[in-house]
Amino acid sequence: MPYRRTTLSKFIIEDQRRAAAPEPELTSLLNDIQTACKLIAVAASRGGIAVPGDTRAPAVETAVNVQGEQQKPLDVIANDIMIGTCEWGGQLAGMVSEEMEQPYEIPAVYPRGRYLLVFDPLDGSSNIDVNMPVGTIFSVLRCPEGVTAPGLEHFLQPGTAQVAAGYAIYGPTAMLVLTLGAGVHGFTLDPEIGAFTLTHPDMAIPPDSHEFAVNVSNERFWEPPVRRYVDECVEGTAGVRGVDFNMRWIASMVAEVHRILVRGGLFMYPRDAKDPSKPGRLRLMYEANPMAMIVEQAGGAASTGRGRILELAPAEIHQRVPVILGSRSEVERLVRYHAEYDAGEDAPFKTPLFNARSLFRTA
Ligand code: AHG
Ligand code: MN
Ligand code: MN
Repeated sequence: MPYRRTTLSKFIIEDQRRAAAPEPELTSLLNDIQTACKLIAVAASRGGIAVPGDTRAPAVETAVNVQGEQQKPLDVIANDIMIGTCEWGGQLAGMVSEEMEQPYEIPAVYPRGRYLLVFDPLDGSSNIDVNMPVGTIFSVLRCPEGVTAPGLEHFLQPGTAQVAAGYAIYGPTAMLVLTLGAGVHGFTLDPEIGAFTLTHPDMAIPPDSHEFAVNVSNERFWEPPVRRYVDECVEGTAGVRGVDFNMRWIASMVAEVHRILVRGGLFMYPRDAKDPSKPGRLRLMYEANPMAMIVEQAGGAASTGRGRILELAPAEIHQRVPVILGSRSEVERLVRYHAEYDAGEDAPFKTPLFNARSLFRTA
């Protein structure tokens, strides 16, 4: 047993020790977040078995959340765990969660701190019943100077303002992947000692890849540049790409991003016309922004198709955005397809009969 291995706790302390302006509260906050992720990992791993001592577990109250989605018991349990584990330490001024319509106020009994925590307590909820990977996504922002009771507007910061971002994945092993703005590092939970242990230092996304992930059942709602990209991938060696592609869809953004960090690829939930009131499926503040920071820090790219995700100015805490992220050259290609489409330059033939906007093109 290597006693000198790097646990996540040790990694965070050493990182802060190297920092020009160390922030001890950030160390404590990240420790509370990792504790929350371990508790959620245990709850997820027990599946239908009640958590010992938790008399509430068999009958957790669920509702339709602010997204209009039916909560699963584990959504509610994971949300309670994040709040209960992170509210007491005095590092936070407030929290925003996918599962709560309004920001969560830190109870008056606890001191208030200088950070804001924004999270998706359980990502990929539809995977719970079928024993597939789920995860937790988090983003740490600074509370503006002098603000002790943050309102909605104080959370509405662009992704470039994130101090830290990460996710935990609860799969065959539980892992926590973290960026503090200088690279991305992966830690695997050692169940024997209950510690996340550095196993994937300096994760780097290969710039090229021949694997894509998208929910193809939405194809008829996609914009032409997205169709063009996917059509070309599917054509494989017979098409303009000249190479066969592979496709994956796990229905958990955490699991898709994790795969991309390990072996590259492109993941997207693009803009679609399924529900015109929603510009995308994924939420900017607690899904797109933290994942975009992680992906960029690992050398990849993250775009809406028409702009860098991290530079968007959020208008609402539960705002949705189109998301295209992963291997840099693939993301750049799809961004170019959007630009060519917007400029009317993507037509294979310069005739209105056969180009992408033609009446003769199906759907
Ligand atoms: P959540 O479970 O937090 O609502 O997020 C699920 C998200 C994301 O993780 C995944 O990529 C996508 O929704 C799956 O969407 P489909 O149901 O269209 O497959
Ligand atoms: Mn999610
Ligand atoms: Mn969720």
